[in-house]
Amino acid sequence: MKIKLANIKKAKNLLNKSECVAIPTETVYGLAGNAYSDRACRNIFKLKKRPKNNPLIVHYHDFKKVKEDCYLNHSFFKLYKKFCPGPITFILNLKKNSKISKIATNKKNSLAIRFPKHPITRNLLKELKFPIAAPSANISSRISAVTSNDVKDDFGKKIKYILEGGKSSIGVESTIIDLRKKPKILRLGALDVKKIKKILGKKISFNINPSKISSPGQLKIHYSPGIPIRLNVKKFRKDEACLLIRKKKISKANYYFLSKKGNLTEAAKNLYSTLRKIKKSKYKSIAVSKIPNEGLGKTINDRLLRASKFNG
Ligand code: TXA
Ligand code: MG
Repeated sequence: MKIKLANIKKAKNLLNKSECVAIPTETVYGLAGNAYSDRACRNIFKLKKRPKNNPLIVHYHDFKKVKEDCYLNHSFFKLYKKFCPGPITFILNLKKNSKISKIATNKKNSLAIRFPKHPITRNLLKELKFPIAAPSANISSRISAVTSNDVKDDFGKKIKYILEGGKSSIGVESTIIDLRKKPKILRLGALDVKKIKKILGKKISFNINPSKISSPGQLKIHYSPGIPIRLNVKKFRKDEACLLIRKKKISKANYYFLSKKGNLTEAAKNLYSTLRKIKKSKYKSIAVSKIPNEGLGKTINDRLLRASKFNG
């Protein structure tokens, strides 16, 4: 996609005035605001209808600026060198004198940071004098947005500007790793944990379904299209939308395919847009065929399981 400098300038001017704009990233679209501004951060919570205790993730162009806000450690640099910019989010200890808004962090002493890879947003970040807080650009607990039209569907005219960046190339959110103590995965995501483990060369623990929520990506109900979902279905009903991992020889009107040949990367890219398409259709429920629980399939299954907890 061609980078239009005029669009980046428009987004920059609005962000400089503490307004919110939607930005494209390689994972999903983000609802962005100046991370140093209480007003901008407050507005993000309001627009998303996000609970105030769910802190915002902050996006940087590179690690140099992060030094003002967080304590960086050895594990961070190892992963940063290998995967950034890219779909990984780090939880780090926040510095006392950081300028990050207390609204964004909910007064916690930690911060979630990410370096998105999308060239348009990288260009924007380079232009700004502050990092940007940007949770996924969707109404809280619903499906994330992977195109500018998805963002429009959720927010309409409530947001001043959407920076066009085409369809998100990955389509599911970043993997979140807490690096404050021993590495701990808080959310499965676009980057395979196996790859992270290989670089760190040490054991990684998981805390993706805790009894006490530390990251609401861990919420039991999330990513929901707002209609019931059945998982691992073998026999489909005619009156429900059927979500399949690969194309079948005989297709039916109510069949939706995530990928032609069962490719999990393609399936992840199509997951949220297909769920949104189904939501716009007449179907009142969704049945999902079994999806292989490996690589990105683990992330797809994680999202579908949380979405299936919706019960109207
Ligand atoms: O791919 C992504 O990460 C996208 C794009 C836009 O960057 N962003 C995204 O943001 O998914 P959001 O807010 O939907 O998910 C970020 C998650 C939330 O579940 C939030 O609770 C968690 O990060 N989080 C934020 N700050 C945290 C902190 N200090 N400790 C633990 N979890 C935190
Ligand atoms: Mg989200």
